[in-house]
Amino acid sequence: MQSLVSITDFSKQDILQVLERAAAFEANPNMPLLSGKVVATLFFEPSTRTRLSFETAISRLGGRIIGFSDASSTSISKGETLKDTIMMVANYADLIVMRHPLEGAARYAAEISRVPIINAGDGANQHPTQTLLDLYSIQKTQGTLHGINIAMVGDLKYGRTVHSLLQAMSLFGAHFSFIAPQELAMPREYKQLLEARGIAYEEHTDLAEHIGNADIIYMTRVQRERFLDPMEYERVKNVYVLQNKMLQNTKPNVKILHPLPRVNEISTDVDGNPKAYYFAQAGNGVFARMAAICKLLEC
Ligand code: CP
Repeated sequence: MQSLVSITDFSKQDILQVLERAAAFEANPNMPLLSGKVVATLFFEPSTRTRLSFETAISRLGGRIIGFSDASSTSISKGETLKDTIMMVANYADLIVMRHPLEGAARYAAEISRVPIINAGDGANQHPTQTLLDLYSIQKTQGTLHGINIAMVGDLKYGRTVHSLLQAMSLFGAHFSFIAPQELAMPREYKQLLEARGIAYEEHTDLAEHIGNADIIYMTRVQRERFLDPMEYERVKNVYVLQNKMLQNTKPNVKILHPLPRVNEISTDVDGNPKAYYFAQAGNGVFARMAAICKLLEC
């Protein structure tokens, strides 16, 4: 039984298989491969895209959905533990998709569950299915995953999406530019991973000057909910705002990705620019998640 807690739970070959399957699902999105299966979606933290795209994916595969989007309406509010909740739900469902604010919660769930777990985000740690849809979006727009120049911008400290994406892109020989204020710099452990693999990266604090060579500009939100000190959040919350005029001298093939939700970090005047891809990227989540579910359930 395989779970997907970290993107490193999938090999490079696994990832490529999932992307190929995602393309097949995009071409033919209604396939009743989960007929008779029940999938639980347990969201202990708010979500729009991840939960709804998982539920769309399950529906398009002909499966049934149980779960919650607000843990306060469950017996957790009476003191039931995460362990007991997972043990229970594993009796009801063939697969559990869970989002939790605590780093490591999904790994813990995978250790005690008798059905596979998909991590739909655990604190600032990992968001592996976001990475699968990001890779799918990069492959679709650039025609390859190899040798991509990717600028990661914003909250690189707490941003679980950039942590997972860095690990995956490092398998394909990317070149990374990290653009973040000092307080939100990419954590040392991820830079060490790149160094160990001989992969080049640069670090900058200025946005406009360092996106000219990018194939992908990966914007992120500064995540208020991860800050212990509200004053620190206030200091950095609007540090980068990508504006349409900044894209004038960027490469013709560049695409702007963002896991969303956005707050202020991409001006709405970018939305109509053909280089903006973030809404299509969110749409790709359905196909990538259909493929990830089928990989784990062997459907
Ligand atoms: N990208 C993403 O995880 O969005 P949600 O928080 O809306 O699920």
